[in-house]
Amino acid sequence: MKRAATMGTVCSFPSPAIPAGRISENAQPVLRAGELTLRPWLPDDAPVVLRASADPAIRRWNRQFTTSSEDALAWIGQWDDRWRAEKDASWAVVLDAEVLGRVSLRGFDLGDGAAQVTYWVLPAARGRGVAVRAAGQVAHWAFDVGFHRLELVHSVANPASCRVAGKLGFALEGTLRSAVRHEDGWHDMHLHARLADDGGTPARGEPDA
Ligand SMILES: CC(C)(COP(=O)(O)OP(=O)(O)OC[C@H]1O[C@@H](n2cnc3c(N)ncnc32)[C@H](O)[C@@H]1OP(=O)(O)O)[C@@H](O)C(=O)NCCC(=O)NCCS
Repeated sequence: MKRAATMGTVCSFPSPAIPAGRISENAQPVLRAGELTLRPWLPDDAPVVLRASADPAIRRWNRQFTTSSEDALAWIGQWDDRWRAEKDASWAVVLDAEVLGRVSLRGFDLGDGAAQVTYWVLPAARGRGVAVRAAGQVAHWAFDVGFHRLELVHSVANPASCRVAGKLGFALEGTLRSAVRHEDGWHDMHLHARLADDGGTPARGEPDA
């Protein structure tokens, strides 16, 4: 019996939701969300990154933090490489030249057009809709560029983040049991998601979104 023909080129089907190169062919954009500007991180932001890392709530819920200026600079420096590798993107959320927080899109899956939204806001800027407006604008950018599904995952013990997800129109899809280990142990996590073709729009810079 004849052996099967030698394997030819491996084809993948379907074609990726976001073709390789579509994101990295452009520089990371500056986005506007009403009075807020979302821009790539700059080396001058190192002190604010360090300050954020010292905030107990940010330390509690964001597992990456920095403890020295060198670390903060390295944290800032990684984003350009990650953008060019089409892996992740992170924006500093700025009002009148002051950094108020951060919104990131992590873990690009170009094949399925998926990524995860993460954020933090410095204590003095909380409760003014910064997270909702900034993350809403990033979601708009992501859907415009071709992402199909954005996820948002937070500990069930973080009701503020749950509220942000709800206001962004990220539907609660379920609870991931004991899925993430924080400093105080394993946490059940809410999985929220929003699809490009979900009805309505995520907040796009409205002051009271
Ligand atoms: C979660 C966080 C990003 C929210 O940022 P923010 O700019 O204050 O968020 P917004 O103002 O856009 O919205 C916050 C909403 O949560 C609500 N909220 C705040 N604390 C809350 C709490 N303990 N329980 C329930 N809701 C709460 C606010 O009332 C507001 O809802 P409202 O507008 O209906 O009143 C910010 O608190 C933060 O950085 N926390 C520490 C880090 C963190 O949790 N990161 C997220 C990890 S998943």
